[in-house]
Amino acid sequence: MASESPHRWNAIILAAGEGARMKSNRPKVLHEIAGRALVTWVVQAALDAGADRCLVVVGHGRDDVERELEASFAEKVETVLQPEQRGTGDAVRCAMEAHPDLAGRLAVLYGDCPLIPASLLTRLLERSADADCGLVTAMLADPHGYGRIIRKASGEVQRIVEERDCSNAERAIEEVNPGLYAFRAAFLRDSIRRLSPDNAQGQLYLTDVVELAAAAGAVVDIEGDMSELTGVNTQRDLSLAAAARRRAVAEELARKGVAIVDLDSVYVDAACEVEPGASLGANVHLRGRCVVRAGAAIDVGCVLTDVVVEKDAKVLPYTVATDSTIGEGAQVGPFSHLRPSTTLGPRSKVGNFSETKKTSLGEGSKVNHLSYVGDGVIGRRVNIGAGTIFCNYDGEKKHTTTLEDDVFVGSDSQFVAPVTVKKGAYVASGTTVTRDVPEDALALSRTKQENKEGYAARLRARLRKRKKP
Ligand code: UD1
Ligand code: CA
Repeated sequence: MASESPHRWNAIILAAGEGARMKSNRPKVLHEIAGRALVTWVVQAALDAGADRCLVVVGHGRDDVERELEASFAEKVETVLQPEQRGTGDAVRCAMEAHPDLAGRLAVLYGDCPLIPASLLTRLLERSADADCGLVTAMLADPHGYGRIIRKASGEVQRIVEERDCSNAERAIEEVNPGLYAFRAAFLRDSIRRLSPDNAQGQLYLTDVVELAAAAGAVVDIEGDMSELTGVNTQRDLSLAAAARRRAVAEELARKGVAIVDLDSVYVDAACEVEPGASLGANVHLRGRCVVRAGAAIDVGCVLTDVVVEKDAKVLPYTVATDSTIGEGAQVGPFSHLRPSTTLGPRSKVGNFSETKKTSLGEGSKVNHLSYVGDGVIGRRVNIGAGTIFCNYDGEKKHTTTLEDDVFVGSDSQFVAPVTVKKGAYVASGTTVTRDVPEDALALSRTKQENKEGYAARLRARLRKRKKP
């Protein structure tokens, strides 16, 4: 049984709609901003503001939406089914009927408004604590698509009229309904039953509840900033909301002490962590769960997904890395590709056009130029020359190449795995290593060089003679 205490409240989040205007196969509320589904941002805001219970109304694409909520929040969120999407009022009715015990204060939020700050929700609940209905309103120079706020001559909110039901005069109103409400549960339960689908869309509008509350003189409104309250109905709305979130995240990082070259072009997913003292160049993408430690520098155009970049490491331009760790003081790039399960030790280097996969590189080891290093176990102070290939795949299975500490690999060598090169051994340039190499040995498999004195000059003369008419 929910408590009547003014400090305890529950949230209903509407996420059952199809979102036809997105022109996408995915349910609208699962489109992402900063790597997180729209509805996830809204639920997070409600939880951050202190909601006791979070009920999410699901319908369209229900299984996918429930899976996302389960993955992000586990048992902190409950779902309610709205079998047919008959409007926002109908969605709230479904939640209230499924939970006849809901009492006290109820916040209602739309699952497609991802930027809502938890602090605004808290302020709304505080200010409207004694009213049947509290809501946020905001001014918008281009109010198209939003419900308009109609006020009484006395200045109080009288009702909300949807864009499609607006008269010409109402359409010109720039005060809109961002869709953030706080209700007395008993009032909402009673008035939701009185809604009628007598409107342009033939739906039950939650917004009509406001008129019922106003008739009893019990609406409290507070002003919000529309830049934090954008609703996402189209791909354009999604881009604008993502840009706003991106800018806010970049500013927050810069405020904390992360050096950011261009506040408008860092793309940092919500679950990433960047420590003060790190630096991010233009067009850097940090996706999934990246961690960038103090002193690390990620230069222009890098795309890192689930990567840990340790202290003072440098990631040079246009590096792509996934599910990898870049050790303290290590250097990667420019133009390197670290594929999953790459672990680079402290002060190691992976350079120009080198690719790694499921490989550990020990402290101080280097793969500086044009190499493919896959399924490798590489010790410390190993130098891998330009154009080296680990032949890790035999057409059926992957095999490991092991290079122990202090191994030196000349350029253009191949390792046909499984194979091991023991400590301190040398591999001569151009060697194809097919058998294990003992400690401190030299492996050499290329053919012996032969020089033919004067041959080139004779050849040239012959060719020139042939060319003459
Ligand atoms: C709604 C408001 C509008 C407000 C705008 C703010 C109504 C009638 N209108 O319009 O006043 O300015 O939001 O962004 O409330 N949903 C359901 N079940 C349904 C229909 C919708 O769960 O049957 C969910 C959707 O998934 C969505 C949210 O409710 O997350 C809002 O629905 P949407 O159709 O986008 O409403 P708007 O037309 O934007
Ligand atoms: Ca909407």
